[in-house]
Amino acid sequence: MSEQIGPIAVLGAGTMGHGIAQCFASIGAAVRLYDVDLPRAEKGRAQIRAVLDKVVAKGKMAAERADGIVGLVNPTADVATAVTGARWVIEAAPEDMQLKVDLLGKVKAAAPADAILGSNTSSLSITELGARVGAADRVIGLHFFNPPPVMELLEIVRGVSTSAATIAAAESMAKAIGKTSILVNDAPGFATSRLGVILGCEAMRMLESGVAGVVDIDRAMELGYRHPMGPLKLTDLVGLDVRLAILDHLTREIGEQFRAPPILRRLVRAGHLGKKTGRGFYVWTPEGPRLPMAGE
Ligand code: CAA
Repeated sequence: MSEQIGPIAVLGAGTMGHGIAQCFASIGAAVRLYDVDLPRAEKGRAQIRAVLDKVVAKGKMAAERADGIVGLVNPTADVATAVTGARWVIEAAPEDMQLKVDLLGKVKAAAPADAILGSNTSSLSITELGARVGAADRVIGLHFFNPPPVMELLEIVRGVSTSAATIAAAESMAKAIGKTSILVNDAPGFATSRLGVILGCEAMRMLESGVAGVVDIDRAMELGYRHPMGPLKLTDLVGLDVRLAILDHLTREIGEQFRAPPILRRLVRAGHLGKKTGRGFYVWTPEGPRLPMAGE
């Protein structure tokens, strides 16, 4: 199956991109991991190495297998190198339509004419992306969840002109990498982000209005509803900037119920983007998340 799938190009080696690359390398597919400069692309591969080192240390994977997975990931800062001969291209660039259009425009010029162009966007229109790239039949939403190697769902988003063949290929690709897929029509925030951000948003409003503190709001959902993580911790994991971009988009497209709470905008302006920067609603230490100390 990996031979039918590979080689894959993953564009963007950040929080989601490197995890998506790991999903494919884990089934033996060759992955080109692109980012705007080589150090960023290499950092993505180093993050896969670090995750797998922990799995090996727990005795849950042989060191040779981890080496094999990492060895299948080739970092590059050149779009053409990444996509030449690729059957699948998955962009995991920041949540900005123009940036994604420009990137997939470059991809279209260098990738095979029948390559499937997937977008990991959390909320933006697949229909618009496909139309503006000029390859609407083979542009599709392939929405992964953080951390991609662990989360079971792949949300497949069908644009108005995405072809039946592209959808069928995406569904069988999902199976090949061990995911369960859902098929969703193109709508702002799809099925997942639209529901997910509203919970996070309400948690922030409750924090702002003094209903309870960060830990108690999270515990309410962890222990009362068995969510694996409370909504504020999850916002830290996803990235506060990512959630803000989704909320701004959904406010424009759907309405005021998605208006971002001031605390979110303030933390983003301060550069506190969550786990990836070491601080969001929590301070992230090697031992795990803790609350910021007074004056910190
Ligand atoms: N790669 C491979 N394995 C990983 C991993 C990674 N990146 N990260 C964690 N793991 C493995 C660990 O090795 C561990 O494996 P074992 O159980 O075999 O030892 C397992 O996953 C659980 O990890 P931990 O023990 O470290 O921690 P945990 O039990 O607290 O689970 C979690 C961590 C999986 C993140 C869990 O807390 C969880 O499911 N949280 C909710 C995540 C979620 O909701 N994600 C969706 C966010 S929304 C999104 O991403 C979409 C968007 O559009 C923004």
